[in-house]
Amino acid sequence: MRFFIDTANIDDIKEAKDLGILDGVTTNPSLMAKEGISGDKNVKDHYAKICDIVDGDVSAEVISTDFDGMIKEANELVTIAPNIVVKVPMIKDGIKAIRHLSDNGVRTNCTLVFSPGQAILAAKAGATYLSPFIGRIDDITWDGMSLIRDIAEIYAIQGYETEILAASIRNSLHIVDAARSGADIVTCGLGAILGLLKHPLTDIGLAKFLADHKKSNS
Ligand code: E4P
Repeated sequence: MRFFIDTANIDDIKEAKDLGILDGVTTNPSLMAKEGISGDKNVKDHYAKICDIVDGDVSAEVISTDFDGMIKEANELVTIAPNIVVKVPMIKDGIKAIRHLSDNGVRTNCTLVFSPGQAILAAKAGATYLSPFIGRIDDITWDGMSLIRDIAEIYAIQGYETEILAASIRNSLHIVDAARSGADIVTCGLGAILGLLKHPLTDIGLAKFLADHKKSNS
C-alpha cells in the first residue's frame, strides 16, 4: 500500500518526505484554504511548490462543476508539472470529464465517493484513482471501511485498473484497516502517519536496552 499525505502544508509534506515513506500528495479546496492559499496564481504556484518537493503524484482539484469548466481547469493544471493528477468530483459532468481526460492521457482522481455504485462508474470512465471518503462515512455512524472492502472486491472481480485511494482517513487505525481492506493507497495527515510509530512496549524496550548498555559500559 502506498502513502499519500493529505495536506497543502509544505512543512508537513517535507517531514513526511524526510521520513522516506511518501508516495504522493492529495489536496482539496478546503486544505488550500486552511493554508491561506487563494487566487488562481497563488494556488497554481503552491501546487508547483508541492510538485517540486514530491516525486509522486499530486492531486489538484478542479472548482468547476460543469464539463467545459472542468476540462479548461484540468488542461491548465496539468501544465504545472508532470506529476499533477486532476481531482474531479463524483457528479454527472465529473464522470464525463474523467472519460474525456482519460481518453486524452490526463490522469484523474475521482473524489467525493461514498458508494460502490459510484466506484463502478468512476472505474468505467477510466479514473486513475478513486477516493472513497472513510471518515465522513464514519461521521454519520456508517462503516466507512466496509466501503473499501466492497470496492476492492468489485474491482478485483471486474478487473478494473482504477486504484483505490482511501481518503478522509482520520487516524492510524484507519490506515491499518485500509491496508487490510484492500486499499492501494491511503491518504492522511502527518499525525496519522506518525501515530503508526507509537507503541509503549517499544518505548519501554528501548529505555531498557539503553539503560543496560549504560550499566555494562560504565
Ligand atoms: C482527500 O483526497 C480528501 O479530500 C480528504 O481526505 C477529505 O478528508 P476529510 O473528510 O477529513 O476532510
